[in-house]
Amino acid sequence: MGKDSLTITDNRTGKTYDVPIENETISAMSLRQIKAKPDDFGLMTYDPAFTNTASCKSRITYIDGDKGILRYRGYPIEQLAEKSSYLETAYLLVKGELPKPSHLKAFAHNITFHTMIHENIKKFIDGFHHDAHPMGILVGTVGALSTFYPDAKRIFDTESRRVQTHRLIAKMPTLAAFAYRHSIGMPYAYPDNDLSYTGNFLSMLFKMTELKYHPNPVLERALDVLFILHADHEQNCSTNAMRSVGSSHVDPYSAIAAATAALYGPLHGGANEAVIRMLMEIGDIKNIPAYIKRVKGGEVRLMGFGHRIYKNYDPRAKIIKQIADQVFEVTRRNSLLDIALELERIALADEYFISKKLYPNVDFYSGIIYQAMGFPMDMFPVLFAIPRTAGWLAQWAEMLLDEDQKIARPRQVYLGPAVRDYVPIEARTE
Ligand code: ACO
Repeated sequence: MGKDSLTITDNRTGKTYDVPIENETISAMSLRQIKAKPDDFGLMTYDPAFTNTASCKSRITYIDGDKGILRYRGYPIEQLAEKSSYLETAYLLVKGELPKPSHLKAFAHNITFHTMIHENIKKFIDGFHHDAHPMGILVGTVGALSTFYPDAKRIFDTESRRVQTHRLIAKMPTLAAFAYRHSIGMPYAYPDNDLSYTGNFLSMLFKMTELKYHPNPVLERALDVLFILHADHEQNCSTNAMRSVGSSHVDPYSAIAAATAALYGPLHGGANEAVIRMLMEIGDIKNIPAYIKRVKGGEVRLMGFGHRIYKNYDPRAKIIKQIADQVFEVTRRNSLLDIALELERIALADEYFISKKLYPNVDFYSGIIYQAMGFPMDMFPVLFAIPRTAGWLAQWAEMLLDEDQKIARPRQVYLGPAVRDYVPIEARTE
């Protein structure tokens, strides 16, 4: 075994540099010493979209994209999906260890007692247009929460971080449910703290005139498992937004608003909605070959397929496929499922998808389940944002306490004009 370092020769100068390798990475700053002329800035790396750059050291989530492995704090996602609950998983993510029974009880109590939102936030939601996208409402209202909790600015105070973490995990479902009720013109249903985290969420969404809402236990558990699967996914687009915005030391509500906005995009949390639209556009199994042809021609993308990190079947998609069967025993079978199954079968046998290692991701089947459970498509990214809040908060706290971290501020390669003199408008020809 050789030395843990990299020897770089700068062919412009013939000089050689020894750069240490740690955790299979080199520090980008170790390249700064490489200069052709003494007054050069020094060498940088160019990596748009961070495809080969680690922006942090993390102890939260492990992914092996080639093998299709996902673990939170070392625990395989399959075991958590089978044996854990969303609140226990949220505890694991934010605190680092599985809770003792009394700690889980206290955590669940704390979350339950923060589910109410200030009545003024309700008025704020009232102000949105009747057909406002609930994700847009969520971005706005979670950001607005920062004005209700000025103590959240004390981001280096452990107790303040603990309280904001409880508040955020607790209030996201309430904001989301109120946004939904607003969009369908129904009165808001207040939280029912006797119910589980997902049971209460279902109650706030679907409660009608009954005095007490009784969630279907199969659907309640299915949603809980879907929440576990979505709770964290290391340095994805929205988590990067959370860390980047949080690195300015803004309060966590504002940072979560930024992360939620990132999740809104169709290439991220909006993908399951795009999958349903795609399946509806295909409309029938007989139209699949023609659609695949359009994908291969570069005209459209096969939504719910492909992933920056997974070059294998997304482990979450495997679990979701199993949940689908349980959900369809309660709800009616979603007719889009047959199109999705056939689409997957054809794509997984097609050289185009095999060579590019394009497999179903978490979004391929989640939308079909959500639709069968009665959620409108607009709510799909919201159903992602709620559980991801725990992951965002865990990553945010880790970033704040990491002495290596500073305000996120990338470099650029400037290719614009060199210095030139301002020309007065009268002197500019049309
Ligand atoms: N359908 C068809 N071709 C695809 C797809 C797809 N869904 N995804 C990638 N490809 C092709 C690209 O055209 C490209 O081909 P090329 O090398 O011939 O140019 C190659 O595969 C690599 O694709 P990139 O876009 O470079 O991969 P990247 O890592 O940047 O993108 C992404 C990942 C955004 C997820 C992409 O696969 C995609 O757009 N998928 C569809 C949207 C989707 O399902 N998003 C959900 C992601 S999971 C999540 O956010 C929870």
